[in-house]
Amino acid sequence: MSRTILVTGGAGYIGSHTCKSLHARGIEPVCYDNLVYGHREFVQWGPFEEGDITDIDRLCEVFEKYQPDALMHFAAYAYVGESVTDPMRYYHNNVHGSMTLLNAMRQCGIKQIIFSSTCATYGAPKTIPIPDDHMQEPVNPYGRSKLVIEHMLRDYATAYGIHACSLRYFNAAGSDPDGELGEWHEPETHLIPNVLLAAAGKRASITVFGNDYDTQDGTCVRDYIHVTDLAEAHVLALDALAAGPGLKTYNLGNERGYSVKDIIDAAREICGGDIPVEIGPRRAGDPPVLIADAGKAKSELSWQPKYDSLDAIIRTAWNWFKK
Ligand SMILES: NC(=O)c1ccc[n+]([C@@H]2O[C@H](COP(=O)([O-])OP(=O)(O)OC[C@H]3O[C@@H](n4cnc5c(N)ncnc54)[C@H](O)[C@@H]3O)[C@@H](O)[C@H]2O)c1
Repeated sequence: MSRTILVTGGAGYIGSHTCKSLHARGIEPVCYDNLVYGHREFVQWGPFEEGDITDIDRLCEVFEKYQPDALMHFAAYAYVGESVTDPMRYYHNNVHGSMTLLNAMRQCGIKQIIFSSTCATYGAPKTIPIPDDHMQEPVNPYGRSKLVIEHMLRDYATAYGIHACSLRYFNAAGSDPDGELGEWHEPETHLIPNVLLAAAGKRASITVFGNDYDTQDGTCVRDYIHVTDLAEAHVLALDALAAGPGLKTYNLGNERGYSVKDIIDAAREICGGDIPVEIGPRRAGDPPVLIADAGKAKSELSWQPKYDSLDAIIRTAWNWFKK
């Protein structure tokens, strides 16, 4: 293996898919995860080191052992609703954890990091599609915790010469096309896996939060991006880090929106089951439409999503789910 990348949160959904993509390119992924939400069986493409990103001694021990060329930093808490009721948990794990990670990097002389950011840093967007330079005004503590980390990366880059890349994902979805990995969150709050659970009869129904938005069918519209396409973007972003110190930011989305109803209709067709639907109230802070302008990632990283149809996204998710 030519290079080694330390992957925090590598036992989670997007991190594990990225480890697989790294390994396929001859790059060794070292997974660093405390398994709070991750799955040990998802770590298949490199060594596993159990540890917490808030533990600087353990981080430095692992850095010394593997001497990684760069870090990919997925480890975080990502439940929007919980971030509203328990913000301390989010500022501690996401912000304090990321600061500890950056300090460990400084201590051990590691300069390069790719960070998992989110479209939630934009809040309610003023323009659709959303460009990377859109104003960032997050509307919940989760989004704010991610925005603070972006500010921290920029400041550390200026002061300490860190090379950083922040990838702002829209809705990650789908599963490894080979069926070796999939989306497995507990609790599960994402729409597609919950729709599949309902299709399989493992959930009584699916609740649609609001059907009176100003969209084509009244339900919220989101940009779903296949997890393997996200993983590929991370591999490509490694080259962008070489340009020098600073923070580069890229939106990662398909630049197309699908409504909640579109997802349920597509799942009914692919899974063949009935999916009972209940209409609930709107959720606070849910913008009607979120669609990425991913032009910068396409032009600067030469990134091109491959699994960009809703059919490919739901079909791969369903194949893994059935296993
Ligand atoms: N899933 C999405 O749609 C989405 C969208 C935008 C951004 N993101 C971001 O992408 C990243 C990965 O998301 P995911 O869906 O794969 O989540 P996930 O929960 O599946 O993975 C996160 C991993 O981080 C680990 N972790 C959490 N706190 C840790 C700590 N203190 N120390 C060590 N490990 C820790 C967990 O055990 C888990 O394996 C997160 O940073 C999330 O905020 C996800």
